Amino acid sequence: MPRLNGGLGVKVLVSEKSVVSAGDRVAGVEDNLKIGQMRRRDLPRVLEIERAVSFSPWKREYFLSEMGLVQTRSYQVARVQAGTVPTVVGYGGVIVIRGRGHVSRLAVAPAWQNRQIGTALLLCLTCEALRRGAKQITLEVRISNQIAQYLYAKFGYRVMGRHRNYYEGERDVNDAIIMTVPEVDAPVSLARLRMLVSSLAGTAVPETSSVYW
Ligand SMILES: CC(C)(COP(=O)(O)OP(=O)(O)OC[C@H]1O[C@@H](n2cnc3c(N)ncnc32)[C@H](O)[C@@H]1OP(=O)(O)O)[C@@H](O)C(=O)NCCC(=O)NCCS
Repeated sequence: MPRLNGGLGVKVLVSEKSVVSAGDRVAGVEDNLKIGQMRRRDLPRVLEIERAVSFSPWKREYFLSEMGLVQTRSYQVARVQAGTVPTVVGYGGVIVIRGRGHVSRLAVAPAWQNRQIGTALLLCLTCEALRRGAKQITLEVRISNQIAQYLYAKFGYRVMGRHRNYYEGERDVNDAIIMTVPEVDAPVSLARLRMLVSSLAGTAVPETSSVYW
């Protein structure tokens, strides 16, 4: 079972091999990548990415209202240190209510895709969901979005259903499939997450995740 870190004030992820302190880099897939809580100041860049990748981009006000619901939401950004200033290259969010998690957002800037940043973000969101007591996590994904579905399958998401014309009225018409990890806190799921932590060789440890297995 995942456990909270008991208020020790030390945020760690424990992989199979080692204990990794928050913010550490293990070895570099992406040098200087860090994941941390989404802040107001991140929003201009988040909105830029949102407009570039989403068929139905959220507006600033919607992000702000989601970010304000701290008891039930966690919004995280991936930042890369470019020169002296960190640049936001991706972000995601998860909502947890009464043990049910829902991934509400996941996006990586086009120029930064396919470098394991989406995997690192989803790992972080999963940790955040577990920390908030999620027993299952669900999301919707456009049926044509093969890359995202592949990513979710790596995390143990299974197709549980389909929403017809879920995206109707937007830039295109498309069904959504519903994908769920039914028992995200079960040993088999936690073992999968541990494996993903190990496989991320080099992506920064999420700064805000304090789950360990
Ligand atoms: C889906 C998304 C978040 C994935 O982020 P990412 O940083 O590119 O993902 P990762 O690099 O962690 O890749 C995940 C897997 O997909 C594969 N993949 C990523 N981009 C790929 C591409 N263009 N072609 C083929 N495979 C690809 C990777 O190889 C990786 O598999 P592996 O771990 O076995 O190597 C990103 O593509 C994105 O922002 N898409 C637009 C927004 C979106 O669709 N969000 C999801 C809404 S439900």
